[in-house]
Amino acid sequence: MLFGKLGAPDPELLAREVEHFSSKEAARRDEILINYFGEESLNRIADRIVEFLFASPTLPADAKALDVGAGSGFFTIKVAEKVRTRLPKVSFYAMDMTPAMLLSLVKKGGDVQPFIGLAENLEGSIKEARMYLDIPYKFDAVFSTLMLHHSVRPEKVFESIRQVLREDGKALIVDLCEHGFEEFKKEMGDVHLGFRLEEIAKMAGNAFAEVHIEKMHGICCECSGRAAEIFFAYLYDVLC
Ligand SMILES: C[S@@+](CC[C@H](N)C(=O)[O-])C[C@H]1O[C@@H](n2cnc3c(N)ncnc32)[C@H](O)[C@@H]1O
Repeated sequence: MLFGKLGAPDPELLAREVEHFSSKEAARRDEILINYFGEESLNRIADRIVEFLFASPTLPADAKALDVGAGSGFFTIKVAEKVRTRLPKVSFYAMDMTPAMLLSLVKKGGDVQPFIGLAENLEGSIKEARMYLDIPYKFDAVFSTLMLHHSVRPEKVFESIRQVLREDGKALIVDLCEHGFEEFKKEMGDVHLGFRLEEIAKMAGNAFAEVHIEKMHGICCECSGRAAEIFFAYLYDVLC
């Protein structure tokens, strides 16, 4: 019902994805991540997100940061802990469409506020969530890890993120580069086989004034001998 209200692009596909994440990943998402990337690479990804949050434009002391498609909160909680060593008053929010994933996050007990929603319609998701929870309309920073290739309409995600950013806000999307492993759709519930960097540049450029994209060398999502590289897309609403 909520997804219909939020204008979900393909409710049936979405329902299958939620079922996949609830039954196959929610209880063991962290373990899955460690198997795919290894702990050292995961720490490097988290450190890069933290570096981005501390970089210009500077976050206010009481900044609000949102993780889109946060899942079990592996990165949300790690990043929140690291950021709060220097900025203890930063508030973290975790949005996801799969309640079971957010339940795993809540069980970890990190000081992160979860809410259910859709990445393609963050404004609407926040409006709905505000009926029960204290969620801000706008954020100083938004980040998202390994969610975009699950989105039915990835191009909408960029505009949706921009709409909930404060003036001078910034966003970071981490996801898979294009790969040829068709079977990931069945095995991992993927919707897209990663993205070409030009595709990301085009989608991001339609929503943001400034976009920087880089591949993260030496880090791959590895599964049974198959490896997909990852990219970082840094998004700014004003020219830096
Ligand atoms: C592969 S998991 C990544 C979770 C977490 N960010 C991580 O790095 O472990 C993808 C997550 O994105 C969520 N998701 C996928 N499509 C979404 C959408 N359109 N809106 C909101 N959440 C979505 C799924 O429920 C799932 O928890």
